[in-house]
Amino acid sequence: MRVLAVGDIVGIPGREYIYNNLNRIRSKYNIDFVVANGENSASSNGITPEIAGMLVERGVDVITMGNHTFGTKTAGKALEENPRLIRPLNYPPEFEGRGWVIQDLGFASVAVINLIGRVNMSPADCPFRAVEKALAEIDADVVIVDIHAEATSERIAMANFLDGKVQAVFGTHTHVQTADEQILPNGTGFISDVGMTGIMDSVLGVKKEIIIDFFYNPGKHFRFEKADEGDVWFNGCIFDIDDKTKKVTAVERLRFSRIDD
Ligand SMILES: [Fe+2]
Ligand SMILES: [Fe+2]
Repeated sequence: MRVLAVGDIVGIPGREYIYNNLNRIRSKYNIDFVVANGENSASSNGITPEIAGMLVERGVDVITMGNHTFGTKTAGKALEENPRLIRPLNYPPEFEGRGWVIQDLGFASVAVINLIGRVNMSPADCPFRAVEKALAEIDADVVIVDIHAEATSERIAMANFLDGKVQAVFGTHTHVQTADEQILPNGTGFISDVGMTGIMDSVLGVKKEIIIDFFYNPGKHFRFEKADEGDVWFNGCIFDIDDKTKKVTAVERLRFSRIDD
């Protein structure tokens, strides 16, 4: 089984790229299952029921979220309506939606768990205890975890905490792909950050002039607008999982900006 993890889809350019290219990428790389982070897919950040529906229609099997989960007024509705959309497990339990989901592919069942980190992030419950509890309840052939976190240390600690208990752990949130893809000692595939899908000539998907101004003029009020011109950068990571043993045999980064790549 080949699982493709796609990093934060940013704004209209990011989601249009996914709508128009994901099925081509799925066939080209023989992908069986796609998990993509959609926390920045709406123009305002967050997600809407329409965007979540369209991402699923165009080939995303499960959408994960992060600190921008509730960036739109309709995100809660999207989480309640769309069973393929999940939000951080370690958010307050009374929030809409759920933190993990199992999809049955016929030949195997795949669980996806969404966690959020706590280092340099807003308060959340302990992701380590939350995932430990979820794993005791989950019965699936393959388990994939999106750890949406700022600190590489927290993501690497989580991956090692889960090593041998899940097939793959990938990081999202910082929008920059890391070159540390690996198979951990007990067989879990890992990458600290898969990177974003959005405008390349930007600061993490936001118009670069605004972010330069933000750093040059601290204290000024800013409205971050997403970049909307130029090439889109697609970033992802493929986890190859042996169908019989359910062990990860390879972890491969993907990064390209042109339609024919
Ligand atoms: Fe993000
Ligand atoms: Fe984030």
